[in-house]
Amino acid sequence: MAKKFQNFIDGKWCDALSGKTFENRNPANWDEVIGTFPKSGKEDVDLAVKAARRAFEKWRLVPAPKRGDIMRRVGDLMVARKEELARQMTREMGKVLAETRGDVQEGIDTAYYASSEGRRLFGATVPSELPNKFNMAVRVPIGVAGVITPWNFPMAIPTWKIFPALLSGNTVVFKPASDTPATATSLVEILLEAGVPGGVINIVHGGGGEVGMGIVGHEDVDLVSFTGSTSVGKKISEVAAGTLKRVSLELGGKNAQLVMDDADLDLALEGVLWGAFGTTGQRCTATSRLILHEKIYDRFMGMLLERTKNLRVGDGLQPNVDVGPCVNEGQQKTVVSYVEIGLAEGAALACGGHIPSGPGLAKGWFHEPTIFTGVKPSHRIAQEEIFGPVLSVIRTGSLAEGIEILNGTVYGLSSSVYTKNVNAAFQAVRDIKAGITYINAPTIGAEAHMPFGGVKQTGNGHREGGWTVYDFFTEWKTVYVDFSGGLQRAQIDNY
Ligand code: UN1
Repeated sequence: MAKKFQNFIDGKWCDALSGKTFENRNPANWDEVIGTFPKSGKEDVDLAVKAARRAFEKWRLVPAPKRGDIMRRVGDLMVARKEELARQMTREMGKVLAETRGDVQEGIDTAYYASSEGRRLFGATVPSELPNKFNMAVRVPIGVAGVITPWNFPMAIPTWKIFPALLSGNTVVFKPASDTPATATSLVEILLEAGVPGGVINIVHGGGGEVGMGIVGHEDVDLVSFTGSTSVGKKISEVAAGTLKRVSLELGGKNAQLVMDDADLDLALEGVLWGAFGTTGQRCTATSRLILHEKIYDRFMGMLLERTKNLRVGDGLQPNVDVGPCVNEGQQKTVVSYVEIGLAEGAALACGGHIPSGPGLAKGWFHEPTIFTGVKPSHRIAQEEIFGPVLSVIRTGSLAEGIEILNGTVYGLSSSVYTKNVNAAFQAVRDIKAGITYINAPTIGAEAHMPFGGVKQTGNGHREGGWTVYDFFTEWKTVYVDFSGGLQRAQIDNY
């Protein structure tokens, strides 16, 4: 019997009111059921929002350093359970163990950062234009935060949102991706064990249409933080406009690595292999375009194809595997369809392009690491987010042209340039339109204490990570204290 999981609403574990459930299976072996989960609806969301609203009135008054103490315990518990959480995550969504350990570590880093932020949450004091008057601006919690998260970083991304939300004094209604509900449940258990009160954290499992949009459209949810596709992000923006709630959107990417003719090619090779095929290409920061200077094109392609052909595809729990499965059948189909699109557009399949067969591969959603050459910047495979192990290679004759190609999509999340020329590196940093630029490092590898997010249709201007996420989860309250004992009229009595 598969393990039965539940929602957590108002301090109690419970089924969906409808009694409906859904199943989650291991993408490397679809015979293995991870568990059954409540298939919730708008009525479950409503209960969770009401509970979060009630809990907010107490939670907002807990001193932030105390909330920080809880976050420290959260970090400690995650450290103690790191290996178990990583294994659960690999079984649930497929990426290899080294990466799921990294995913948990990103959550641990975020917990300890949040813990220390409890003793900062800095505001500002500013001189008044009038005598005997004190001006300051303080951060205050906002209320009920809806947190809607994807399956590719099932621990890290929820922690990026939930920990700062809670530390800031908000309460949370959490809707995890339906491909990774078990990892999300473990996170909630850890929060409770660390001392987060019932009602302050609520988890509602189910589909995006019912639960996700139920949260976004709910008039008593004050803010929504979402990571996912650009198309869903646009829909969320529209629905959220109905109640004018604050929304943070982290959306798609079409990230490129540019390799100049003076680059350390061995280093650039390691970078692109990791950036393109790590997490089976299922990161919003994945390298899905490789822009090569024509002078090193042939040599670099020779090196890249040889290494890519030797990548081992399989169950991420096996120690020798480099590339796990796609997360589900739909994602595998998307990858297959983009291979067809690339061929139809006239690009050349330089390696991969198929669903692999062989021992251990028959019951998983695997796809070979795939490289297209002869790609034009305007091709769909060079413009659209694929979210799979597919790399499109484009040729360039100069740094300026390479940057122009790199910038030439609707997205702007991550970017990477390999060069030994410091002038070229700084020119790239200045001219690349992206939220994140790496020099001599791949497009993936964001650190928890740095701002994370993108420009153009990658987002709507907010940043997660570091100190910047606290701008999203708090409201500024401006306070004037007049200790003059008389009426002082600003702009009038002093001029
Ligand atoms: C994402 O793909 O949505 O930089 C997040 C990275 C990770 C986070 C990725 N630390 O690739």
